[in-house]
Amino acid sequence: MNKQFLVKRILALILVISLLCLTGCGNISGEESSSHQDNSNNDHITIGFSIDSYLIERWQRDTDVFVAKMKELDSSAEINLQNANGDIETQRQQIKYLIEKKVDVLIIVCIDSDSLSDVVSDAKNAGIPVISYDRLIKDADCDLYISFDNEMVGKLMGQALVNAGLPNKKVIMLSGPTEDNNVSLVEAGFKSVMKENGVKIVDVYHTPGWKAEEAATYISDHINELDDVDAIMCGNDNIATMVIRTLSEARLAGKIKIVGQDADLEACQRVVEGTQVMTVYKPVEKLAQAAAENAYALATRGELASSTDAMSNGSYDIQYCYLSPIAVTADNMDETVIDSGFHGHDEVYLNVTD
Ligand code: BGC
Repeated sequence: MNKQFLVKRILALILVISLLCLTGCGNISGEESSSHQDNSNNDHITIGFSIDSYLIERWQRDTDVFVAKMKELDSSAEINLQNANGDIETQRQQIKYLIEKKVDVLIIVCIDSDSLSDVVSDAKNAGIPVISYDRLIKDADCDLYISFDNEMVGKLMGQALVNAGLPNKKVIMLSGPTEDNNVSLVEAGFKSVMKENGVKIVDVYHTPGWKAEEAATYISDHINELDDVDAIMCGNDNIATMVIRTLSEARLAGKIKIVGQDADLEACQRVVEGTQVMTVYKPVEKLAQAAAENAYALATRGELASSTDAMSNGSYDIQYCYLSPIAVTADNMDETVIDSGFHGHDEVYLNVTD
């Protein structure tokens, strides 16, 4: 059992016993009664969840599902969500605050994979297990890294473009920021498929802070150099949305093939309408549920919920677990995104008339 949780349980038990004693003696005061209330409130699991930001559609779903699953596992569980709004220093301060609050488990979606090893050490020194959620925290002694197979995400994007046809064999990559470890993994997967198929990567742009408007500015600035570019690999669907908007303004939409990831609703609509070749669907419900199960197991038993594999994150061998991403095109939209309940049929096909 996790040390903090155990201590809380013991304290609560001592309090209950002393209160029973006091009640028996018939002199319980209002003040004592409320202090009993305060301490019994501590007798539940508390999870600190530090999130990069809610700028991107998917994270709301990640945290909603996580909270729902934790409540299902333990209805009295308390989840303290901290949103750093994309600011690295804010995230560090929020994690320190959660450590001070003595949460039972910390879950982190890191903004910068390289900037949290010291705060993770602080958490571990305070006896708090840490889960690195979706993005790897490098050089940190995390108890679990749980994510999707990000290299596969890049391979699926690349393969979809090859399948759709790249006559000039030229593509551009508008990735996410280099601080996000997922970005280099997705890129590695994408580049491997381009290499196998003799496709030239004309340029790679790393969108700062995943701010899609920056990717749109890149497109505006390079609009005259896109003539023989077949496709643009967008780091996610939010970037794809802004890129397609900018291309439309230059009457280039449809001429350049676009792929993204996250299965955002707008992207799924574009896929069935034919203005985006594919998106990668990552079942974030499964990820969030698995994270909640592991957080619960770490808090109550001090161990992970299920068996995992080991990997090195630079300085430490840590446990990891990868879920599989799924390529979504107009052909399999129904069996993937819709059948899983990720989006409703009517919303995806909103603009499609038979
Ligand atoms: C995730 C993507 C997400 C992006 C921006 C990446 O680390 O893998 O799913 O769109 O961050 O939040």
